[in-house]
Amino acid sequence: MSVLLSEKRNSNLKRKNIMSFRYLGNKTKLTEWIVGEILKIIPAGSSIADPMCGTASVSLALAQAGYSVTAADALAFPVIHARARLLAKQAPSFKAFGGYDKAVDWLRSIPPVEGYFFREFGDAGCPTNGRRPRLYFSASNAARIDGVREGIRDLARSGTINQLEHSLLLHSLILSTNKIANISGTYGYFLKELSRNAQRPITFESLHFEQTPGDHSVFLGPLEKHASNLSVEAVYLDPPYTKRQYAGNYHILETLAQEDEPIAEGDGGLRPWQEQASDFCYRRFAGKAFRKILEQLNVPHIFISYSQDGQVHEDELLVILNEFGKVTIQEQPYNRYRSNNKAKEGILMERLYHIERY
Ligand SMILES: C[S@@+](CC[C@H](N)C(=O)[O-])C[C@H]1O[C@@H](n2cnc3c(N)ncnc32)[C@H](O)[C@@H]1O
Repeated sequence: MSVLLSEKRNSNLKRKNIMSFRYLGNKTKLTEWIVGEILKIIPAGSSIADPMCGTASVSLALAQAGYSVTAADALAFPVIHARARLLAKQAPSFKAFGGYDKAVDWLRSIPPVEGYFFREFGDAGCPTNGRRPRLYFSASNAARIDGVREGIRDLARSGTINQLEHSLLLHSLILSTNKIANISGTYGYFLKELSRNAQRPITFESLHFEQTPGDHSVFLGPLEKHASNLSVEAVYLDPPYTKRQYAGNYHILETLAQEDEPIAEGDGGLRPWQEQASDFCYRRFAGKAFRKILEQLNVPHIFISYSQDGQVHEDELLVILNEFGKVTIQEQPYNRYRSNNKAKEGILMERLYHIERY
């Protein structure tokens, strides 16, 4: 491919891959490198799973490269992202509204409701546990979110939208919520004062749909429960590498995706998340979690993204991976993720391990 063509392809990929929020450990900026390395080993057209898909940026990039992708995650909101980004190859018909554009207009016009989000997460709320209002959202945005949640729930209950349309509406709500959330990086806590972004009214934009060639599927669940059922030619693993639990740090997105009204605990209003905790976030369990999954995976090629400063030390990880096949490592310098100004800055090595099974 000429340099010019390859640059054009890369910039197209970048444009289509952008997700409008920061997600701990997301590989949105690394997809070209990751997919390029995978393409050197297994040809486009093969089947590959991304069972810890997060934003589904890697899933989508794999689909764009011509793979048939199975995406999954232990949490519900990444599954919503994956359904929207992989399965909606074109705008669904949204018959209930008379087309996709009308569905977006509907999202924009739903009246506010002073409901669960207003009470628990809005700056004029009155949290059930008696604490001061939580400043995750302005009162008006919290009420708009409540209105949209109620509207989507009613549509789904009455059967006027199908599962993919339902996921697309939730995906839009999550993306729009991320833009006006009063947080620095994650939803672990909110900022002391409403930021300029948080004061802006929530907006809903039309999504971009991508006609990728493969057959894709998406499902929900921790990998430990379904690794042995994956019937694909390769698996790409991108487990958490820090101690920060996704279920707690993104509790609000999980609540949007699950469409429920859980107890909002403590100052941060976290949904009970311990049942969804990932072993990869605990230094003492992470090595075992790798082993448990690798023992179950019955596929010829396994690719693993893991950071140089992950919970499992690089020497220990290599010992584990070597038990399962021939290991090669590719490296890419990468800017360290920062969710607030206190976090460490600098460049670290992102690693892509390839295990060719014995
Ligand atoms: C580093 S992020 C993945 C980022 C993703 N590749 C992206 O580009 O957005 C790790 C993901 O693994 C998920 N996860 C953690 N433990 C899991 C498990 N045991 N099974 C499945 N998913 C898990 C988290 O919910 C999170 O979405």
